[in-house]
Amino acid sequence: MHPVRIVDLFAGPGGLDVAAERLGVATAGVEWDSAACTTRRAAGLVTVEGDVRLYGPSDFPDADVLAGGPPCQTFTVAGNGAGRRALDDVLSFVERMVAREDREEIAKDLSKMEDERTGLVLEPLRWALEAIDVYDRPYRAIVLEQVPAVLPVWRAYAEALRKEGYEVDCGLLRTEAFGVPQTRKRAVLIARRGSEPVELPSATHRTYRKGMSRDEGDGALRAWRSMDDVLARTSPFLVISNYGTGGDPKARGRRGSWEPSATVTGKISRNRVVGLDGAELERFTHSEAGRLQTFPGDYPWSGRDVGQQIGNAVPPRLAMHVLSAAFGWSPPDKAALRALDTWAPAAALVDEAVAAYV
Ligand SMILES: C[S@@+](CC[C@H](N)C(=O)[O-])C[C@H]1O[C@@H](n2cnc3c(N)ncnc32)[C@H](O)[C@@H]1O
Repeated sequence: MHPVRIVDLFAGPGGLDVAAERLGVATAGVEWDSAACTTRRAAGLVTVEGDVRLYGPSDFPDADVLAGGPPCQTFTVAGNGAGRRALDDVLSFVERMVAREDREEIAKDLSKMEDERTGLVLEPLRWALEAIDVYDRPYRAIVLEQVPAVLPVWRAYAEALRKEGYEVDCGLLRTEAFGVPQTRKRAVLIARRGSEPVELPSATHRTYRKGMSRDEGDGALRAWRSMDDVLARTSPFLVISNYGTGGDPKARGRRGSWEPSATVTGKISRNRVVGLDGAELERFTHSEAGRLQTFPGDYPWSGRDVGQQIGNAVPPRLAMHVLSAAFGWSPPDKAALRALDTWAPAAALVDEAVAAYV
């Protein structure tokens, strides 16, 4: 399925685009945060700085794949009434959109929503349906990723896209099961036009459980990777979370450098890093936090609030597996995965991609 071109909505600092470029697939990202755009441009990624709601498929006529990671805070207010109501609202809008109710009516009702982010999670569906109805050029593949709380929305998307002629799979993936040295769960949807079955990528590495050693678990899979595997610190250390576990500020989560990192969030710089003798060590640099997300060590993080940019991103290594599965390609090989270690040599490839778009 060559050549493919991706338009990436809510593109952030480029987690998905880095993976795509390394697979030889050109991308263009739409992102409104100027800081994330500064990083993207420094990395040479094609970037449209603006609101996803003001664009549509006609602005990216060459793109035949749609990707997106819409902002998710509405659904992460764990289990509370507002989160549930937001979900019910989204599900009913999905039904109305697929039933081809009048676009303007839907847009009017969306603009009345208390929380505008409810509408943002529907943007990829608007793009997918517009590509079909208005341009008669359905996207060949669609890739969506978000926090686990968004899985019910992806299930509704799956049902909707099946009706539009897509084969779809969606579910939760664990990042450490794909060799990311970090435990993080993501809700992922992949869809492809046609009748060939589509499946989420299979785990390559074992999943991590607290206190388990590297050798335990399914022998057919590789051991999970640890912080030590990707960071160049000279001696083992402990990371002490800024947050208490279960609401108890004294029960701060801890991970040893011989384990995968806990989920990298925008607040990673608040975590303490201590030696095994209790000595305070330097906290994670941007490069190190990026490595825990499998960004290249020399990724040119720029602009303000880099921690947030890093925490927002999809780990490029996971994205490589997800994109390959969405395209029906074999899983990325060692050379492709190794190409994520450094970024600088990618410049030539990115220049080509830029030239193709401009
Ligand atoms: C969860 S992050 C996506 C990260 C991205 N997938 C990556 O791997 O780097 C969501 C992003 O959406 C951006 N965003 C939120 N609302 C937006 C809008 N209306 N238009 C464009 N970008 C928006 C945020 O600034 C944030 O960077």
